[in-house]
Amino acid sequence: MVLIRIPKPWQVIDQPVTAEAAFWGRRKFMKSMIGLGAIAAAAPLTACQASTQGKRDPLAGVQDLNAVANANFREGDRPITGRQLAATYNNFYEFGGTKSIWQNAQALPTNPWTLNVGGLVKNPTTYGLEDLLNFPLEERVYRFRCVEAWAMVVPWIGFPMSRILDAVEPSSDAKYVRFTSYYDSEVTKGPGLRSSFLPWPYTEGLRIEEMANDLAFFAVGAYGQTLPKQHGAPIRMVVPWKYGFKGAKSVVGIEFVAEQPATFWNTINGNEYKFESNVEPDVPHPRWSQATERLVGPGSEFSWEQQPTLLYNGYADYVADLYA
Ligand code: MTE
Repeated sequence: MVLIRIPKPWQVIDQPVTAEAAFWGRRKFMKSMIGLGAIAAAAPLTACQASTQGKRDPLAGVQDLNAVANANFREGDRPITGRQLAATYNNFYEFGGTKSIWQNAQALPTNPWTLNVGGLVKNPTTYGLEDLLNFPLEERVYRFRCVEAWAMVVPWIGFPMSRILDAVEPSSDAKYVRFTSYYDSEVTKGPGLRSSFLPWPYTEGLRIEEMANDLAFFAVGAYGQTLPKQHGAPIRMVVPWKYGFKGAKSVVGIEFVAEQPATFWNTINGNEYKFESNVEPDVPHPRWSQATERLVGPGSEFSWEQQPTLLYNGYADYVADLYA
């Protein structure tokens, strides 16, 4: 165990993603979302860009964090994604339907913050921002795989989800967990995908055994510092063996429940976005293969490195038992 020091190599400025890649990302998004395409098409892309001029620093407002590097979770094969790139190529539909939402996301109010944990538990608990940052923090380098077949490698800082389980003590009736993201239609007014038939707020869910798994993590930081807003500040889920949409950002609620909860994408299109949504190369998305993925790198999306998708995103040793 080594105390990480700042600055890290990833603080070297890398080339931000090109407008071209963002454009193609948006086109892919529009094609990929049955039922959502029409709304994405209506998203006021140029209006958003115009209204956010002057916000030039994607890492504005982040602060240093001390964390212990967890030697069990270092990435051996793949390079860590450039920090600027990761912070400027995001999905956060509350703030727009493109990958270039980082400026709009600066409207997210993250301090103070309240995370309510309740439902079928012995000790319902409310955490404030300081409580979350005061958990013993560790750094874990995880592979990240979006259902859209792009991938990154991110050094998260945070704590295992099991710490919350230990604190609140779920009852034996609790079989599932629902995670709810921050939502305020006034804050996302303009840039967000606001259509009244979308099931806001963004929600996600896990089986309780999945939440208890060693890999399941809450990130409060990345790349040595607190999370930039576009990554889901101040706290977001990271479940690296599942597709990225399972990792709800800016979590305000955790509820332990008896039945499988409705979730955002599964409600929009349950055929394409399953509740379980593990990374499985042999299980294609209904409209594209998941056998390979593009590792996000500087420059155009078309030059990103193609690589095979790994079962459970390479974490079978940790999670295969859950699905035996
Ligand atoms: N959480 C919320 N609240 N809203 C979102 O739109 N997008 C999901 C996930 N969590 C999303 C979200 C998707 S589709 C992905 S791929 C990841 O966030 C992207 O995380 P990143 O932008 O930090 O890389």
